[in-house]
Amino acid sequence: MEHITDDLPAPRLGDRGLFPDLEAAVYLNHAAISPPSRRIQRALHACIATYAARGVEAFFTYNQQRAELRQDLAALLGADAGEIALTSGTSAGVIDVALCFPWRAGDRVVLFDGEFPANITPWQRAAAAFDLRTTLLPLEDYMRSHAPGLERLEATLRAGGVRLVAVSSVQFRTGLRMPIREIAALCREHGAELFVDAIQGCGATPLDVEADGIDYLACGGHKHLMGVEGAGFLYVRQARAAALRPNVAGWLSHEEPVGFLVQGPGHLRYDRPIRQRADMVEAGGWNALGHAALGAAVKVTLGLGVEAIHAHVAAYLDALEPALRERGFRSLRHPDPAGRSTLLCVLPPEGRDVVALHRALGARGVASSIPDGVLRFAPHWPNSQGELPTLLAAIDAALADA
Ligand SMILES: Cc1ncc(COP(=O)(O)O)c(C=O)c1O
Repeated sequence: MEHITDDLPAPRLGDRGLFPDLEAAVYLNHAAISPPSRRIQRALHACIATYAARGVEAFFTYNQQRAELRQDLAALLGADAGEIALTSGTSAGVIDVALCFPWRAGDRVVLFDGEFPANITPWQRAAAAFDLRTTLLPLEDYMRSHAPGLERLEATLRAGGVRLVAVSSVQFRTGLRMPIREIAALCREHGAELFVDAIQGCGATPLDVEADGIDYLACGGHKHLMGVEGAGFLYVRQARAAALRPNVAGWLSHEEPVGFLVQGPGHLRYDRPIRQRADMVEAGGWNALGHAALGAAVKVTLGLGVEAIHAHVAAYLDALEPALRERGFRSLRHPDPAGRSTLLCVLPPEGRDVVALHRALGARGVASSIPDGVLRFAPHWPNSQGELPTLLAAIDAALADA
């Protein structure tokens, strides 16, 4: 297929050779948006060139590429390809499940205070539309050890009425890796279902929907999967898909949705069943370019291996964290490696303005971000510890002028 790119160097941990255009000397912003590698750029060019040359015929090529992408995402997640829907990103998946879940009036939804709003707003809207009650639990409970958080969650579930718990696998503001498997076990014990926003983990922090007991998982492709914005996916466990209400269905959600376009007269009908599968949420035309990029990106991730990427980034952060502490930063990294992700979030030294510090770092070629006032460093597989002296020199200089 067109996206095969044998003349490009193979992706290697710690090597940014596939990112020759990247301007920042040290790019630590993969928790925001990843720069597309040469492989992704090549896949995008091939896709648009194929459409330019073949018009509608390109649809069939990229339909097959989407089938391959579903297989690759399933391999990445420990799922079946039939449990994957291609979406525009995390929010699309959250909204789809919030609207299609078989709610009963009075059901409770458990959310967490401090989550990225993408995993709050759709549940609030569903609560207003379907007469649900939402409960916000503190993430703070999980920060030093997971036990107090799990105890509070269990007490909440025991109180009854909870149909769904929605949580991110990795928290965007602290880098906290949530104990998803333990949360899932509690949900199962108390008859609740588990929804996971995986965008801060998927691609860099291991996750397995089967082993972890996840019912629904939404993700966008532009962070740790290193694709582009506007292309992501939704996982729905098949046993849960059967109960979903098709409230977001469109013309492509039916069984055999395109037959009437190629089979001659008499095939245009409006009563074909809606697929009771994850991909019922694929209502209309796909994001051909975005999914071509995601397809190439997922192949890179599978090739390197999420465990290997995670270990590579952990070693980088293990070296960076003490150097930051020495300079007066307070690290929010979890004391137990099981609670850590590939995000290192720190509070600036006493009296330092995080906005000014962030700006000063940017001016020195260090890309970072400051979600809700925390300085966040998020390296990935192309980062290498060889760049740490440059990074620390930039931090020292930024501290001097901020
Ligand atoms: C935890 C989390 N969820 C969701 C999003 C964004 O979702 P979407 O893919 O819909 O833009 C972000 C960051 O942008 C995030 O950090």
